[in-house]
Amino acid sequence: MRSRIVVGEPLRDDADALVIPVFEGKEPLARAGTAADREIGGSVSDMVKRRALTGKPGQVQTLLVPGEDRVRALIAVGVGPREEISTDRIREAAAHGQKQASRLALRTLSFALDDFTVAGVSATDAAEAIVEGARFSAYTFRRYKSAPSADEPPRVEEIRVVTRSKRAALGAAVARAETIAAATETVRDLGNTPPNEMTPSRLSERAREICRAAGIRFRTFGPKEMEKFGMGALLAVARGSAEPPAFIEMEIAGRGPRARTVVLIGKGVTFDSGGISLKPAENMDKMKYDMCGAAAVIGTMQALAALKTRHRVIGLVPTTENMPGGSASRPGDVVRAMNGKTIEILNTDAEGRLILADALCYADRFKPAAVVDLATLTGAAIIALGDHCSAILGSDQSLIDGLVAAGEKSGERLWQLPLWKIHMDEIRGETADVKNTGGRAGSTIKGAAFLQYFIGKFPWAHIDIAATANVEKDKPLTPIGGTGVGVRLLTTFLDSWR
Ligand code: BES
Ligand code: MN
Ligand code: ZN
Repeated sequence: MRSRIVVGEPLRDDADALVIPVFEGKEPLARAGTAADREIGGSVSDMVKRRALTGKPGQVQTLLVPGEDRVRALIAVGVGPREEISTDRIREAAAHGQKQASRLALRTLSFALDDFTVAGVSATDAAEAIVEGARFSAYTFRRYKSAPSADEPPRVEEIRVVTRSKRAALGAAVARAETIAAATETVRDLGNTPPNEMTPSRLSERAREICRAAGIRFRTFGPKEMEKFGMGALLAVARGSAEPPAFIEMEIAGRGPRARTVVLIGKGVTFDSGGISLKPAENMDKMKYDMCGAAAVIGTMQALAALKTRHRVIGLVPTTENMPGGSASRPGDVVRAMNGKTIEILNTDAEGRLILADALCYADRFKPAAVVDLATLTGAAIIALGDHCSAILGSDQSLIDGLVAAGEKSGERLWQLPLWKIHMDEIRGETADVKNTGGRAGSTIKGAAFLQYFIGKFPWAHIDIAATANVEKDKPLTPIGGTGVGVRLLTTFLDSWR
């Protein structure tokens, strides 16, 4: 799907369909709506009168327009009250418009940008949201289907963002949205790929290819080097699997005097069976998504390279399977992480924090100004917060505040949970320095408290994406499967980070 800016009268564009917003309230029709309405004999306002169009978010109505040299269909999408307009609402409206055009087998789709741009949202933000919404909603993962199914709608090929007044920044906004969408597709593809294919080796191969294409420095370490680094926690998780683990390091150099170093770390458990503390069979297949933190970091690197970030960005991915093989770690085992601290493994299913522990130790060598890790770490994050936000915890309130603000702006929202000294006390070990679980109560917090034992002298934030990494039902912006969460959040954050 290509996207571009077109300067002109939206109704006069020769696209197959034009999407116009309908606001909830007294005067629901935007200008394009009113103009279009006159041209087609009042059918739109007739719909409004009959309350077939009320402007509720998610509402979609289509009018086929006879005649030549102009749009053939008008797709009216509800965007909610004018005063509540946001990039989120626009993104979702664009998604509904795109889906409707696809169902009608329409190939080129225009959006009346000026009508989406009402007080509160700038034209560039609206343009970006439109392209993101259209692209995000059009994603499918069909690689493992041998034949296209007959009921699959054809794809929309082109998105045109039509505006009456030319502005230089609009082209850049569309390009940025395309970059973000492409990176999000990368993350979704990585997450959706079945776990027999998306092994640690395959994940690092894909990361290598992505880095090569994007001009990102890449290297990867195997078990021998992990041994040398003293990464006993990561190796302890890998022991139960026939697949070798990998530790991926990616680097964007950064530019100019204001470049600061940030390290992004992603949990890359390509399949989490629980190990000897085996998970129940039900839904175990979903544990292929346990590498979505890793995927988000790889996708974010891809996006940041294309966006020419001024920061020096290091991406670290510890990746392994968590399997119950004959040489797997046992509950009760004590292992040593890279910083010398000993860990009592009480539950082999709390493996994410083990592999992140060594990655956090490793991060110290870059003298980072901030470290952010993303991980599908705890089921409790889903229980506590539901799936409309990720949990954030950490050691530095200003870093957390920056990330939370980026979450609001990008639509990938975060909610902070407490992380106090008492939480760290609660996971002190009996036989070792620290234990890898402290029971079910406050499990998301204890996961973060565990990680805090392994951070260096850097501001650190941990984002638990267990609830947001994948969806079990189709949503407007995220078809069933991996969501690509993290890309919009982190690119938005690093845009304003200084
Ligand atoms: N990968 C899981 C967390 C998870 C669960 C993600 C459900 C997505 C959906 C993680 O490795 C895990 O098993 N965590 C345990 C920790 C517990 C043993 C302390 C959990 O949350 O139950
Ligand atoms: Mn687990
Ligand atoms: Zn896991």
